[in-house]
Amino acid sequence: MNINLSDRVLRLPPYLFGKINQIKLELRRQGNDVIDLGMGNPDKGAPSEVVEKTKEVLDDPKTHHYSRSKGIPQLLREVSKYVEKKYDLHLDPESEILATIGSKEGISHLSLALLGPGDSVLVPAPSFPIHIWSAIIAGANVITVPLGETHEAFLEKLFSTYEMLWPKPKMILLNFPHNPSAAVVDPKFFEEVVRFALKHEIIVINDFAYADITFDDYKAPSFLTVPNAKKVGVEFITMSKSFSMAGWRIGFCLGNPQIIKALEKIKGYYDYGIFAPVQIGSIIALRDHWETMPDHYASIYQARRDVLVEGLNKIGWKIEKPKATMFTWAPIPEAYQKVGSMRFAQFLLYEADVCVSPGIGFGKEGEGFLRIAMVENEERIRQAVRQIKKAMNNTSPDQVLEKYSDQFTD
Ligand SMILES: Cc1ncc(COP(=O)(O)O)c(C=O)c1O
Repeated sequence: MNINLSDRVLRLPPYLFGKINQIKLELRRQGNDVIDLGMGNPDKGAPSEVVEKTKEVLDDPKTHHYSRSKGIPQLLREVSKYVEKKYDLHLDPESEILATIGSKEGISHLSLALLGPGDSVLVPAPSFPIHIWSAIIAGANVITVPLGETHEAFLEKLFSTYEMLWPKPKMILLNFPHNPSAAVVDPKFFEEVVRFALKHEIIVINDFAYADITFDDYKAPSFLTVPNAKKVGVEFITMSKSFSMAGWRIGFCLGNPQIIKALEKIKGYYDYGIFAPVQIGSIIALRDHWETMPDHYASIYQARRDVLVEGLNKIGWKIEKPKATMFTWAPIPEAYQKVGSMRFAQFLLYEADVCVSPGIGFGKEGEGFLRIAMVENEERIRQAVRQIKKAMNNTSPDQVLEKYSDQFTD
């Protein structure tokens, strides 16, 4: 029988990183030791006390029941204390905080709660895929705004795009520090956004996944700390990167009570809450490790960043050090620019045994770049640089152009 899929699913394009992943798996099956700097999947584990507490409560069958969709009250209270200690934010645990199955799930369901056919959203480009596709799945339109060179230029473009459009976009979905470009902003940026959003009554969402993964002297501002931000929007934080708990699937939506209530309502239909031991483990992380663990993980990524960027610069691939996130957003080396990001990523995979994400996977504004995730240790990153150097010495841009295709899927 032929299964007829919904238009919603048919509208989704093939998974852009599919081909790269498929080649990586094939090469590994053939015994190649591929250094995987592709996906932003943290390679460390949660703090050990978090793991111990989680194991302990697992023995209690009560934790095996359905949990509370919005998060257990003790956890929501702990999140409230956490953001107060960290950002001097005062949020009511029951009406201004909601637990999500990671921020990806939260953003997806929030799009379903807030958007529908006829609505549109402004999103910076290049873009993390769910920032685009959550709105599309909800039936809304997406208008991308190129990030540009500076955040002042981006703001100007964002506001002028809004002014030009009719009907007016309903929402702005931001993500600073930004994936994939690692772009960062200062508090003044969010002040301008809130001022504009209040004036035009636009909802603002900030995906703050990389809140703590910041380097050198840079500290990422929370959108919610700007006066009146809570009137216009919400911010998502996650345990995935700050506490290296990506597989645990837990994050939080914070801010505007009306938006939180809408998300709570839709989630009430879809899920029965996060597994209780995960919520209890998260309480321990937020209560006992908030001051140390996020900085500890950030320092690991910073050391890797230094090895990667300094190593690539030494072999003549000029890249700037990112100030935040677990990614380096690298322009394709000058001589190879003409081959494009899809071919260059395949070349690195086949000829250097190094897996990276092609920029085009994040939209056309990502073309000309590669996203290198710093998710292997310093020794492996040094090895990756050596292998890249050797591959570039052995293969000219014309040979890369000839050997590889720029297609996403077979
Ligand atoms: C910008 C951004 N938002 C959200 C996520 C997903 O986070 P979570 O694990 O909380 O769903 C990621 C993961 O890589 C991300 O880079």
